[in-house]
Amino acid sequence: MSPSTKAPVKANLHPASCKYLKLGHPWITEDSYTKRFPQNTFFLIGVDEKNRQEIALLINDPEHKKVKARLWSLNPEDWKKEINFKEMLRLRVFSSLEKREKFNLSLERENYYLINGESDFLPGLLVLKLKNQILIQYYALFWKEVEADLIAILQEKLNIEEIWIQERNFNQQKAIRSISGKTQSEFILNEYNINYQIKINAHYDFGIYTDMSAIRKLMRPYLENAQSLLNLYSYTGAFSLFALKLGAKNIVSVDLSAKYLKWLDENIALNSDLNAESHSSLCMPSEKALEKLIAQNASFEAIICDPPSASSDGHSTSSALKSYENLLPQMLKLLDSNGSLFVFLNTHTISWNKFEEKLKQIIETSEFKNQVMIGKRFKLSDDCQALKGFHEGDYLKGLLIEFKNKLKVVK
Ligand SMILES: C[S@@+](CC[C@H](N)C(=O)[O-])C[C@H]1O[C@@H](n2cnc3c(N)ncnc32)[C@H](O)[C@@H]1O
Repeated sequence: MSPSTKAPVKANLHPASCKYLKLGHPWITEDSYTKRFPQNTFFLIGVDEKNRQEIALLINDPEHKKVKARLWSLNPEDWKKEINFKEMLRLRVFSSLEKREKFNLSLERENYYLINGESDFLPGLLVLKLKNQILIQYYALFWKEVEADLIAILQEKLNIEEIWIQERNFNQQKAIRSISGKTQSEFILNEYNINYQIKINAHYDFGIYTDMSAIRKLMRPYLENAQSLLNLYSYTGAFSLFALKLGAKNIVSVDLSAKYLKWLDENIALNSDLNAESHSSLCMPSEKALEKLIAQNASFEAIICDPPSASSDGHSTSSALKSYENLLPQMLKLLDSNGSLFVFLNTHTISWNKFEEKLKQIIETSEFKNQVMIGKRFKLSDDCQALKGFHEGDYLKGLLIEFKNKLKVVK
């Protein structure tokens, strides 16, 4: 039975859920009310119990561990009449695609988000364009039920060579499948005139983080012709290659994984115009690389630090925020007095202010007290902007740290 032919079922919502839905927050997380949600209905009509008022049309997700339903509409007209889900889906998908066309993204990169979940009113659904292929990522399991409709709608507008589907965050397994039955794919993709090797289904991620693409562009003025760059947690080297392309010299990439650093070398080899001599790698924990570089009296004009939300130094695991207690003073020791340090945090559980406060505290208790300032914020933008008021979608946070006495260079 398709969702459009199933009648939605009413469900009382927690007063806090009612309040947040009205403020634009699109998730109903597990609480005493969600325990009473019906199990086998696609749509729910969320009811404010106190006022006996129907306030939202939700999509039910009983199998999800935390997010039990996601907002589909706050407009009563959408559930007063018979719900034509496929038509609503088509309109929302087309509007997401049009938005991307207006950004003209395809002029500068072959990888971008065609659909970015809640901010495109398609909750729990990400669709990435990777050259001529599409990767659909489900963060909500109900998308599986309407997969055929979704694919047909995408195919109406796009000329797609292959469609991959990945279920994310359910059991942390790779679980990528293609609709044609292929199990793996390798191809070269271009971002900002740089080639990258993409490997679908060889590892959990496929070789380039597209949510960072717009941020990379914003960082361009700081990396252009830099005399040196330290790229910590480099993965397959997108930042290193981007800086190489911009004429930066003496680039050091650090990653715990030999596999990813080998992939980084493959990426450099795909770009004959890049000077491989300007790049070297250190295969070790970032913490150890920092000690080594400090012992060598190294210094860098730019440092990028983009740790995973929980990282291991090979022995113990710690959260990215906690690991900055050790990393930040060490990075400041290596930062040129006119340099730029970019620190990232990849989690929605810590707000911008908490991240900034923590960094300030670390600085204030270090030898760099009163000497550095935290400036510009680097946020998810363009094709993967977060929905206003939905802090879970605003998961990627970057801050620029500079010395207060930095000579002002007009960028
Ligand atoms: C989120 S990815 C970084 C993405 C990269 N900045 C980019 O934009 O392409 C995290 C990387 O950190 C590496 N890693 C994890 N723990 C590490 C550690 N303690 N030291 C160095 N690298 C680590 C992983 O192997 C992975 O490649």
